[in-house]
Amino acid sequence: MSDESTPRPVPRVRMRNIVKSFGAVQSLRGVSLEVAPGEVLGLVGDNGAGKSTVSKVLSGAVVPDGGTIEIDGQAVHFDQPGDARRHHIEMVYQDLSLCDTIDVAGNLFLGREPTKRVLGVNVLDHRKMHREARQMLQGLGIRIPDTHVDVEHLSGGQRQAIAISRAISFGPKVLIMDEPTAALAVAEVEAVLELVRVISASGVSVILISHRLQDLFLVCDRISVMYEGKNVADRNIGETNLEEVVELIVGHKFSARSARALAEH
Ligand SMILES: Nc1ncnc2c1ncn2[C@@H]1O[C@H](COP(=O)(O)OP(=O)(O)OP(=O)(O)O)[C@@H](O)[C@H]1O
Ligand SMILES: [Mg+2]
Repeated sequence: MSDESTPRPVPRVRMRNIVKSFGAVQSLRGVSLEVAPGEVLGLVGDNGAGKSTVSKVLSGAVVPDGGTIEIDGQAVHFDQPGDARRHHIEMVYQDLSLCDTIDVAGNLFLGREPTKRVLGVNVLDHRKMHREARQMLQGLGIRIPDTHVDVEHLSGGQRQAIAISRAISFGPKVLIMDEPTAALAVAEVEAVLELVRVISASGVSVILISHRLQDLFLVCDRISVMYEGKNVADRNIGETNLEEVVELIVGHKFSARSARALAEH
């Protein structure tokens, strides 16, 4: 039972009134977004609606012109991705940012490879790195036959799984994924969605950007719709359906167009 005296749980992420322009383009016109611990939020909207920009603001890759961000109730200010990482926010980009010519384990540990002392010198501890890589992938239910394979030889789905595993290895509280299933085959999509289920069940908040609305209905708790740099609707997954979400995405487009057309006549 909740009444006014029951304090609402503090959201993991609370973004309020975020604005951002690139030159003359107003990409974000006052976006507000909340995600609870362990919640999966689907972020949808037409091309150019501002989904990637708002997620880059949260991951520290884009500095907003205005608005506030709170993590677990604490006001934060991110100037670069390292700042967001310190607050346990990780983002998996669509371009994946893996190194093709480095093997699976090397990609998972890129920049923080385990070392050992040999004759007073620090050297890469290959065995430890591959052992930990295997454990990491196994723990997430990811099947990669050999951690010694260069990632250029992996399938799209396997590469996506490696990129997500790398992000998870930083121990995020918030994981943002921008179109993680856009280029994947059906079975690979299912594997990524299963990964989302596993991660969120462990308490990580997930923000999932996707044009594949059917995927969102399989894993999201809530869907937030953006249009031209603003939030236009927010729905719990159990209280909406595919048709309504499509309508919310394109309906605004057509109503805005007809309003403009009417204004011009
Ligand atoms: N670095 C940038 N410089 C100039 N304009 C930008 C930049 N980043 C984004 N924009 C513009 O901001 C708007 C929002 O872009 P954004 O990439 O956030 O959209 P999106 O919702 O992710 O779209 P999509 O579904 O196509 O990925 C677009 O008009 C885009 O051209
Ligand atoms: Mg985008």
